[in-house]
Amino acid sequence: MRIGIIVAALTLIISQAVFAQEAGTSIADLRSEEPLADNATPPVMPKTEDKAGRRVRNYPEQPPTIPHEIDGYQVTKNANKCLSCHARNRTGESGAPMLSITHFMDRDYQFLATVSPRRYFCNQCHVPQMDVKPMIENEFVDIDSLILPKNKE
Ligand code: HEC
Ligand code: HEC
Repeated sequence: MRIGIIVAALTLIISQAVFAQEAGTSIADLRSEEPLADNATPPVMPKTEDKAGRRVRNYPEQPPTIPHEIDGYQVTKNANKCLSCHARNRTGESGAPMLSITHFMDRDYQFLATVSPRRYFCNQCHVPQMDVKPMIENEFVDIDSLILPKNKE
């Protein structure tokens, strides 16, 4: 009886130690190895890339990434800063590319006179980019390299 209790207590202690260790490693990975009790120094906020020119799309349907900063650009029910440059009637002045015609289509593929409500919140699909190290490896292969004849590689 007494031995049973001791064995049970020991098993509990050991299993907790193992669990704590496992939990410790997996959490530490996400916390950049900072001990749990300490506050990690957050990394410096990277700067948004802001260059002239447009980025190559990885595949034809990709929403192009935003090549400029968008800090402070409001997109709300009442105002859309993006449209002040990218709307059809603003592009002459701004030099920005017009939203493509797909942005005028409703869900029944009918063209509206102006941007469709489902394309109004630009940042749902378009995002700026920052010059940072990817958090995980990316093995994406462009279709052009996939379909290249072997002898041309
Ligand atoms: C002050 C004018 C201005 C505003 C405001 C603006 N843009 Fe732009 N945007 C431009 C210009 C100009 C370019 C073209 C950059 C170039 O070719 O050098 C551009 C390029 C882009 C592109 C790249 C298009 C492509 O084919 O590669 C996207 C996407 C974009 N903007 C989205 C946005 C979004 C989303 C917002 C709002 C959050 C926004 N822009 C606000 C002027 C603007
Ligand atoms: C639901 C996703 C989605 C939303 C919301 C959206 N876009 Fe797009 N956008 C795309 C995709 C996908 C493309 C590329 C294919 C195409 O042209 O439809 C694109 C293309 C563009 C282009 C390049 C056009 C060209 O001919 O080179 C511009 C500029 C652009 N979007 C701006 C905007 C702005 C500004 C808004 C907000 C008013 C917006 N988009 C909202 C998905 C979206």
